[in-house]
Amino acid sequence: MDKKIDTRRSWPKGYEPKEDDTGEELSDRLGLLETILKAKPEKKASTDIFKVMATRRSTRKFSKNPVEKWKIDKILAAADTAPTAGNFQGFEIFYISDKETKEKLVKASNNQPYVNTPLVLVFCMNPSRVKLDFSPKVIMKFSIQDATLAAAYSQLAASALGLSSIWIGMFDEEKVKEIIGTDLRPTSILCIGYPIKKRPAKLRRQLKELIHVVGEKD
Ligand SMILES: Cc1cc2nc3c(=O)[nH]c(=O)nc-3n(C[C@H](O)[C@H](O)[C@H](O)COP(=O)(O)O)c2cc1C
Repeated sequence: MDKKIDTRRSWPKGYEPKEDDTGEELSDRLGLLETILKAKPEKKASTDIFKVMATRRSTRKFSKNPVEKWKIDKILAAADTAPTAGNFQGFEIFYISDKETKEKLVKASNNQPYVNTPLVLVFCMNPSRVKLDFSPKVIMKFSIQDATLAAAYSQLAASALGLSSIWIGMFDEEKVKEIIGTDLRPTSILCIGYPIKKRPAKLRRQLKELIHVVGEKD
């Protein structure tokens, strides 16, 4: 099921699936995900999802403090819990581990300086994973939704862990592909770190304006 894993470039460390995809391996894999998600946070994290949603706020000014490994594990595991079309997981995550690559990504993102944060994840579509008998257009649509949902789950997880983030959608796709070394289309870059200042959530339009009831009301 998985392509060969380059152990130098995989995460979490210490987990390298065997080449033969046995049932046992699948349970290892699920076990790992569960272990990471259930692991007791070393410091307090908010587990009230509605509070996390209500207080999340994008940040463009980050401190230089690194993101702890256990938090990175949880943020990545959270992405892997997102629903995907047919459960085919039509997306990939590129974990940017070096300063030079982050600096290149800043340039590819219209020189948005905050792309250079302690944790930078590039979410890409991988439509070839979506083995459903639909037109290429539908498969592309599913794949973009898979990648976007995964990034959104990671973003919420980061907030729950006391981190903040900025979602970057404004970038030169071709440049990003070249920088991270893939043919896959990037959908978003999620830049995560500790905010210099915590700010309240932004206002939204009223729910009444947003929600359109269709059909007879009960
Ligand atoms: C699809 C999408 C693309 C975005 N692209 C950028 C971007 O390129 N640069 C940026 O600074 N913020 C970007 N943002 C962040 C939004 O500006 C931010 O989420 C919005 O202002 C709402 O603020 P909040 O996240 O604090 O609620 C993007 C957000 C989304 C969802």
